[in-house]
Amino acid sequence: MASDRVGSGDDVRRAHDDHPPFRYPDYKSTMARSPERDMVTVLRTLSERTGPGPAWSAVEDDDADLTTNAGTGGRAIGARIVVTGRVLDAHGAPVPDTLVEIWQANAAGRYTHWRETEYDAPLDPNFLGVGQCHTDADGIYEFLTIRPGPYPWGNHPNAWRPAHVHLSLLGPALGSRLVTQLYFAGDPMLELDPIYCSAPPHSRHRMLAHYDHDVSVENWATGWRFDIVLAGEHATPGERQDD
Ligand SMILES: [Fe+2]
Repeated sequence: MASDRVGSGDDVRRAHDDHPPFRYPDYKSTMARSPERDMVTVLRTLSERTGPGPAWSAVEDDDADLTTNAGTGGRAIGARIVVTGRVLDAHGAPVPDTLVEIWQANAAGRYTHWRETEYDAPLDPNFLGVGQCHTDADGIYEFLTIRPGPYPWGNHPNAWRPAHVHLSLLGPALGSRLVTQLYFAGDPMLELDPIYCSAPPHSRHRMLAHYDHDVSVENWATGWRFDIVLAGEHATPGERQDD
């Protein structure tokens, strides 16, 4: 993947107006961690924009099936979903060989994480909540997973995160990375979520996965389509990693 396709190149800059700001008062923790001084733009050198890429030998087909990749021999509980789409560059061309990693809560809204202690929702021993795959020659990725549940968080009274899946896309170098979240179109909790709403109104819909009947598998799983655009005027809003 050309390094300039992940929004960090010098010729295809990320459209900043499409992304959440560093400081967003309704999203409380951004006020503590955002920079207080103007950012300094440092153009990346060639060696910072290119690299050997992810270690594909560490990615196996089974990693893309979160319903079974816990290695227990059992299946995760919840509503199975297929999540698929294309990774596209600023010009709408497919981007092959991109590492796509996801992490998410289980069907009850609980993460398998040692710091997750406050929300008394059940863990699923057959669900790790992490997966990975890479895009094929047409820029297509696909996961089989469980629809995550919403969960509470401490941002404000009675705060709930809408169902979402975290994604990281990585190109050939550490600088060619996009981190974002996928939400489900039609979720009534979206407009109550400061993280979703921290993306500008004109671009936040680009983080929505849409139900696609052609992706659904009969008697098995519903299908959701989510294309990811790495840069340009249709860029998917990403969590701010740099300028
Ligand atoms: Fe989350």
